[in-house]
Amino acid sequence: MSGSLSPRHLLSLAELSPATFESLLDAAERLRGPRGREPLLAGRRFGMVFFNASLRTRTAFEVASFDLGAHAVYLQVGGGLWSLEHRSGVVMDGAHAEHVKEGFGVLSRMLDAVGVRAFASLTDADEDARDAVIRSIAAASTVPVLNLESAMDHPHQGLADALTVRRELGGERVKVVVHWAPHVKPLPLAVPHAALLGFAHAGHDVVVAHPEGFDLEPGTLASARALAEARGGTVSVTHDRAEALHGARVVYAKAWGTRSLYGQPEAATAAVRAHPEWTVDGKAMAATDEAIFLHCLPVRRGVVVADEVLDGPQSRVLDQAENRLHVQKATLCHAMGVEP
Ligand code: CP
Repeated sequence: MSGSLSPRHLLSLAELSPATFESLLDAAERLRGPRGREPLLAGRRFGMVFFNASLRTRTAFEVASFDLGAHAVYLQVGGGLWSLEHRSGVVMDGAHAEHVKEGFGVLSRMLDAVGVRAFASLTDADEDARDAVIRSIAAASTVPVLNLESAMDHPHQGLADALTVRRELGGERVKVVVHWAPHVKPLPLAVPHAALLGFAHAGHDVVVAHPEGFDLEPGTLASARALAEARGGTVSVTHDRAEALHGARVVYAKAWGTRSLYGQPEAATAAVRAHPEWTVDGKAMAATDEAIFLHCLPVRRGVVVADEVLDGPQSRVLDQAENRLHVQKATLCHAMGVEP
């Protein structure tokens, strides 16, 4: 409902200052306790527009809103919400009934902030690389837009990832591996990008390990390098899995597809199935320095990670998921200008 000319969007961790990143993690720690059940956002309204499915993100925002006294409105595109067009200058004679300019213009009159989940199309590489859907929505909205996972980023996941490592390893600078994993279908780059940016913000030595051909987006890698160097950390990329795992204190597994096979679903699927030896199993974890295991979830057992790891003592995936709730309370307060 704000008429602010500069809403506090949270679209990518690459756009957060180091001070804001740290203050969000600190706020999440405060909100983990009784402060997180105080009516800090009483009377505020938060909208959640989902173009895609969710378990954690939606639940965490609904619970966060409830705990802080705000009201959350859930809107699912294709499930009760008009189908939305985001491109400029198109003749809307197809499936889309409403443009984001009107849709989010209206939501801005009724809400104090709005979250948007809009995954990558995996068909149009340029549009995905520009994060066109969420960027067009942010341009149309006069209230803060929170990215609940877009084509290129998932900042709330990256914040929770960094918080999990901070809690587990006490803020120590450590070797963190963002570890590519096989899958049954190609997946977007949003989560590995967010994990990379979150760990870079935290000043770790981040190693992105993947088979040849699965490069992350060069601009995100460059942003992560700059963030890490500012904190005394590093970012490197390797195709040598053994080298990556040696000395690692954190193994963050995630499947993602190859950008070179955009719009070629059969070839892209074959590519992500072609490296089963990259599944994270007990042998891989034994090669580390007693690393903790992280994954954003949902995860396919036996494909991305072996049961022995997911069910074993090194797994922290449930703590990591719980941290979504605490960081999302922090970002809600931040978006609405409330000091938690
Ligand atoms: N990790 C994550 O964002 O989970 P959901 O897709 O269930 O929201």
